[in-house]
Amino acid sequence: MNLTWKQAFLLGGLFLFQKISMEIIPASAQMKQWSRRCKAQGKSIGLVPTMGYLHEGHLSLIRRCRAATDSVVVSIFVNPTQFGPGEDLDRYPRDEEGDLRKCRELGTDAVFMPDASQIYGPNHQTYVEVGPVAEPLCGATRPGHFRGVATVVLKLFNIVLPDRAYFGSKDYQQLQVIKTMVRDFDLDVDVVACQTVREQDGLAMSSRNAYLSPEERNEALCLYKALTRARALFAAGETNGDNYLKAMREIISREPNAEIDYVSLVDPESLQDLEKVDSRALAALAVRVGRTRLIDNMLLE
Ligand code: PAJ
Repeated sequence: MNLTWKQAFLLGGLFLFQKISMEIIPASAQMKQWSRRCKAQGKSIGLVPTMGYLHEGHLSLIRRCRAATDSVVVSIFVNPTQFGPGEDLDRYPRDEEGDLRKCRELGTDAVFMPDASQIYGPNHQTYVEVGPVAEPLCGATRPGHFRGVATVVLKLFNIVLPDRAYFGSKDYQQLQVIKTMVRDFDLDVDVVACQTVREQDGLAMSSRNAYLSPEERNEALCLYKALTRARALFAAGETNGDNYLKAMREIISREPNAEIDYVSLVDPESLQDLEKVDSRALAALAVRVGRTRLIDNMLLE
């Protein structure tokens, strides 16, 4: 086929437009319509649910989704039902413009950005009741948190209609809660677990790292140091669960502004405490550094 320079120019422009055009969708009904159109065209849909203030951890999920699906949807919604009283809902960091730019650069097809009234109507009254997987670790110190997470994720699945959804292992318990919900409710969504992305010095990336003062940022490294210590014990063949807990606590206690919420060694599936370590374990912790609550975990296997 011979193209005139004009035709080539137009085709190039169309290609570029497709690359940079990204739908920003504020309403649930509109989002569902968009997804139905994709499905009618035989396209697969991948969803990356987020609360925004996107960092490299989020971006790694979007990239993975982009590589595996025809249509990439990123949702940005700071979900009020997963925050407890006195938590940081009101001051949760936001950067709409920056988020949209990052999504566009990665070739996202649509960003679903509802406000709370789109997700929770005035008479909203149904919630997902999560089971034992939501009880230990963060579930114990943030009552109702996973009920809010499971409810919003179920709603996002029903609005966006994804074939696949991408979640980070940084929020390991959240991932287990979602996998359990998908299994128990027979949902047609493949849950894809993605690796934790870390800063160069090991601190797990998190939108909440933005709260840390430079001094706190240094102290926050104790989470990674504690997990690295657990990994070294595991490599050395340590089987006594208590010895892991003592070693991790000792590292965190060296930081004056760090206060332990929990330090645990659990079975990676059930999330129940492990007294004796055999082949696999998950070291998980939540630590308050100043006013900021940080979580991290490491799979030992
Ligand atoms: P948010 O904290 O914005 O995280 C969105 C997704 O990014 C989650 O799957 C999370 O595990 C992943 N993520 C965060 N930090 C990461 C890192 N350092 N490396 C890899 N992945 C990382 O998690 C939530 O939002 C919400 O609870 C949500 C699932 C959107 C429901 O409201």
